[in-house]
Amino acid sequence: MRIGVIGIGRMGRAIIERYSSQDYVIYGWNRTKTKAKELKVKNFKILDHPAEVCREANIIFITLSDIEAIKNVFYQEKGLLQGLTSENIVLNISTITPEAALEFYKEVKKTGAEYVDMPVLGSPKKILKGELPILFSGNREVLERLKPILEILGKKIIYVGEIGKASALKLIFNMVLPVTVVVISEALNLGAKAGIEDKIILDALMDSPLSAAIKRYYDRMVHPNPPVSFTMKLMLKDLEYLTRMSYKLNTPLFLAPVVKELLKSAVANGFSEKYYAKIHDYLKKLSGLK
Ligand SMILES: NC(=O)c1ccc[n+]([C@@H]2O[C@H](COP(=O)([O-])OP(=O)(O)OC[C@H]3O[C@@H](n4cnc5c(N)ncnc54)[C@H](OP(=O)(O)O)[C@@H]3O)[C@@H](O)[C@H]2O)c1
Repeated sequence: MRIGVIGIGRMGRAIIERYSSQDYVIYGWNRTKTKAKELKVKNFKILDHPAEVCREANIIFITLSDIEAIKNVFYQEKGLLQGLTSENIVLNISTITPEAALEFYKEVKKTGAEYVDMPVLGSPKKILKGELPILFSGNREVLERLKPILEILGKKIIYVGEIGKASALKLIFNMVLPVTVVVISEALNLGAKAGIEDKIILDALMDSPLSAAIKRYYDRMVHPNPPVSFTMKLMLKDLEYLTRMSYKLNTPLFLAPVVKELLKSAVANGFSEKYYAKIHDYLKKLSGLK
């Protein structure tokens, strides 16, 4: 099996590094070729057009930021749809709406290729360790065929059902994360205003249901410059897609839209490329804390 990667950002780079470390040959394409060239790993070739990746590789990961980026790659001159044949399987790990997943599935199927709706729950670090939880929607037989390849990324693969359901579950998952970070941040800020040190607040909260989230996030929330595994602007995009999904399903969401507007405000104020848990800094600022 030869691997293709369309979109060589944080996730794309990690996938390439992981397969390269297992001696696979990988073909990649990125809109900004210079950025892709910074990645120096064995058995990795950068190609000039998405259609060329389809010719060289049979398994093609799409790791692009949003729906617009995927449409650009699908429909551009020498784009993905011009290159796909029945030899290819497209695995879209980008976080998108269930509706868009269905639209891309239909477009890909017209070429004879397979399409899998395959968002993932972990960071680039988890990919590098082979510990990436994977959501899988689509043809179960394809899943069985792909298992040995996918298990290189992560052994936990959750089969969610037909196309679109994995994307829906991914959006639900990403509703929980920023809402939780904001609750921790507000607890710390209110405590600080009441004159209580973080250490003492955390000590008390360790006996609350937030303890696991604090262990996971606190250090990065207060670190002046934590590694950026996932940007604020991409988390904002996910909450935007989530609210679209809730509208379609006529299901009210009360917390996530508030957090979405908060993230939008942070993005408008220079936080776009920061790690999303740094919403803590923005909330501190809004609270008049340093
Ligand atoms: N990072 C994570 O921890 C994580 C975890 C789970 C899921 N995800 C999802 O995975 C996807 C990729 O995330 P990431 O963190 O790797 O993002 P990223 O580092 O920001 O990379 C985004 C990629 O999309 C490309 N792109 C953006 N707009 C484009 C356009 N109009 N046409 C063509 N290419 C375009 C970028 O190309 P350029 O280099 O030319 O800008 C880059 O290759 C997103 O959907 C994200 O929500 C991320």
